[in-house]
Amino acid sequence: MIYTLEKISPKDYEGDMIFLYGDETAERSLPLGKREVALLKERRAEDKDFILAFDRLPYRLYVLSFDSEKPAPEVQEGLRRNAMKLLGKFEADQVKTVALCGAGTLPEEVAALLEGLTLADYSFDRYKSKEPYHLEQVMVDAVYFKADELEAMQRLWNRIYWCREWVNLPVQDLNAPRFAEELESIAADLEGVKCTVMDKRQIESLRMGGLLAVNRGSVDEPRFVVIEYNPSTRNTQNNPIVFVGKGVMYDTGGLNIKPEDYMQEMKSDMAGAATMASVVFAAADNRLPVHVVALLPLTDSRPGFNAYAADDILTMYDGTTVEVVNTDAEGRLILADAIAYAVKNYHPRVIIDAATLTGAAVRAISTFGIAAMEQNGRKELEMLKVVGEQVYERLVEFPMWKEYEELIKSEYADLRNCGNTPQAGTITAGKFLAHFAKETPYVHLDIAGVAYFTKAQHCWRCGASGYGVRLLYAYLQMQGE
Ligand code: BES
Ligand code: ZN
Ligand code: ZN
Repeated sequence: MIYTLEKISPKDYEGDMIFLYGDETAERSLPLGKREVALLKERRAEDKDFILAFDRLPYRLYVLSFDSEKPAPEVQEGLRRNAMKLLGKFEADQVKTVALCGAGTLPEEVAALLEGLTLADYSFDRYKSKEPYHLEQVMVDAVYFKADELEAMQRLWNRIYWCREWVNLPVQDLNAPRFAEELESIAADLEGVKCTVMDKRQIESLRMGGLLAVNRGSVDEPRFVVIEYNPSTRNTQNNPIVFVGKGVMYDTGGLNIKPEDYMQEMKSDMAGAATMASVVFAAADNRLPVHVVALLPLTDSRPGFNAYAADDILTMYDGTTVEVVNTDAEGRLILADAIAYAVKNYHPRVIIDAATLTGAAVRAISTFGIAAMEQNGRKELEMLKVVGEQVYERLVEFPMWKEYEELIKSEYADLRNCGNTPQAGTITAGKFLAHFAKETPYVHLDIAGVAYFTKAQHCWRCGASGYGVRLLYAYLQMQGE
């Protein structure tokens, strides 16, 4: 989608137009006759949230009414969701170019609608013979933004677009080596970004027992990708924020193979890695003044060859031994190595991971947010909750009580890779990972419910959502360095 800034006077503009109507001040600027304005006022007296299209032949005026009195995050999320409805109307009316203006509307509100249009307009098209409908251009009233403000938002949205493309790509076209190559080539064009890709031999010499074990059943080699963004303006001594992303390119379950249709959509099991890479790239695009590193263990998990098996005992990067109880609990094995690597090599200010880790998280809270936990990371998690409410990518906290540690103790090794009971699966996974963070402030984000939607929801069509990129980007923006 192309966005341009133009001077738009609603009453004179000739073309299809969206008009944001948040409060009464808008009434004077509406390019409508008295009776039409009266009709709108009547509608608003009943309910302020609606979209009403007026024919101004040969064009249309789409009035988006909302209640600007509500709390800002709610108003903005409402606008994002209405963007999906607007797009439905545009498609029906074959509108490809639209002007966006309003009166008595805040820039944040206009930004939220634009964001919604961008997110809602995305669909995964590259395997379709015929390109489906897309909105091509939005001309935004120049009173709302300076050019560089709009460009900064667009750069973030572009990263979300790529995050979604990667997650949607099937493993046949995006395996670990290819994904690593792609990340490396993007990083090469970004100022202040260094990308290091470790191959199987290097991973072996690092003794990342978790990543190597999960990879044993696959023909494709694993990769361990390190993306570091260190803005030149920053003091390099500063401890970085380290992001860790689960990069299971495809999760068959391994020898504990996923039954029936449970395997479907497991191409999205690398959403954590895609999210973290995208956030670091967005930070670099917009030159955020924060030192940040993404650690991405990449492999698929398959039952081939000498696949790792239940009862195997692995020695992880930090020397911890792990009894494999179920090969389908593979994410925590590759993440554990990456978290331990962060602790040993970066002295991070905080480690935050994102992972499509447990079906239990989806059962607990469905597809409406992220299951979050912390260890020594209270301040960071509280901050994430606050920004999460602001951008409406929300977190709900799960407990990390000591009692849960008993559930992942092994008879034969230091830990077992899943709890000894089917209960609290999301928490035992978090506890397992927290072991490897040691004293370092640590936040775990289980994004299993939100990374990939099987049905359209809010401002997302079905498929990858990019959920978490806006959250973590806003979190980085908040770092007052
Ligand atoms: N990738 C899955 C978790 C998942 C499930 C993500 C559904 C998205 C949607 C993960 O590797 C997994 O298989 N977890 C198991 C753990 C169990 C074996 C302890 C699960 O949740 O069933
Ligand atoms: Zn699994
Ligand atoms: Zn998995």
